[in-house]
Amino acid sequence: MSTLPWITTSVNVNMPCLIYGTAWKKADTADLVEQALLAGFRGIDTACQPKHYDEALVGVALQRVIHQGIPRDHLYLQTKFTSLSGQDPARVPYDKSAPLHEQVAQSFARSLHNLQTDYVDGLILHSPFDTHAKTLQAWRAMESIQQTGGARQLGISNCYELPVLQALCKEAQVKPAIVQNRFYKDTGYDVALRHWCTAQGIIYQSFWSLTANPHILNSKLLQGLAAQYHKTAAQLFFRYLHQLGIVPLTGTRSPQHMQDDLGMFDFELATDDFEKLGVMLKPAQFRM
Ligand SMILES: NC(=O)c1ccc[n+]([C@@H]2O[C@H](COP(=O)([O-])OP(=O)(O)OC[C@H]3O[C@@H](n4cnc5c(N)ncnc54)[C@H](OP(=O)(O)O)[C@@H]3O)[C@@H](O)[C@H]2O)c1
Repeated sequence: MSTLPWITTSVNVNMPCLIYGTAWKKADTADLVEQALLAGFRGIDTACQPKHYDEALVGVALQRVIHQGIPRDHLYLQTKFTSLSGQDPARVPYDKSAPLHEQVAQSFARSLHNLQTDYVDGLILHSPFDTHAKTLQAWRAMESIQQTGGARQLGISNCYELPVLQALCKEAQVKPAIVQNRFYKDTGYDVALRHWCTAQGIIYQSFWSLTANPHILNSKLLQGLAAQYHKTAAQLFFRYLHQLGIVPLTGTRSPQHMQDDLGMFDFELATDDFEKLGVMLKPAQFRM
């Protein structure tokens, strides 16, 4: 079995370098999360957003693996607060007429109940709001949760504008330790934002890493290197992201792909191959 490396974030939280995502798994959520944890994953990403995630079934899987000898403190568990605009109006997991800070508190209480735990390792704001004032209001409520021990670290997702992240960091008492973004060409792969995150010690988590990038996965360069390293294109690209300092998410349903994804830690890209791959994320490539 591959050994999954962990990194320590700016606030001293240990986080696995590859995280299993639980979106869109519906009734299969418990079985797939259990399968992923037994395969060797230790990081789980979910959200209090019934439209896309079944958080309670993630909790079921956690109980199952805890009973099979994987202790809660050997796991990294992160969930999200999703604003009303991201919720299915028929299934909002908090009182939609409550003030924003109350919505965050209620959502978080629901997450703990669903996940059958008394803390999470990461709490993520699913997306910035349309105004800085609202983003900060939600963030203050998340800070209270962190300061009272409910969440060990905070993060923000779908934050593609560097000034938005910078404004949040400037006023936050508890700074974001992670940014979780879609990794795709439309944002130029967040190059400037990622550099700024690195300078601040913020860890960048990627989603859509495979689905948004078939042009990279099918390119001659990546295919050639995959053959040379005797790896699949997905493994090679995940490995490249790892060496860039990114923590990718994978939500694979396939037992083989679970093993393949974890297998990215069994090899290393030589410096010249790593540098060659840098061209894939450059704007000229987007036109090909
Ligand atoms: N913050 C947000 O707004 C947000 C948005 C979207 C997702 N997420 C999180 O990110 C997680 C991952 O989602 P994602 O959008 O990145 O996509 P994903 O659900 O991981 O899907 C990726 C695709 O890649 C395939 N795949 C995975 N490993 C592979 C491998 N080794 N070889 C070939 N194919 C492979 C999967 O197919 P198979 O199932 O056949 O392997 C699947 O079709 C979600 O579950 C969720 O937790 C967050």
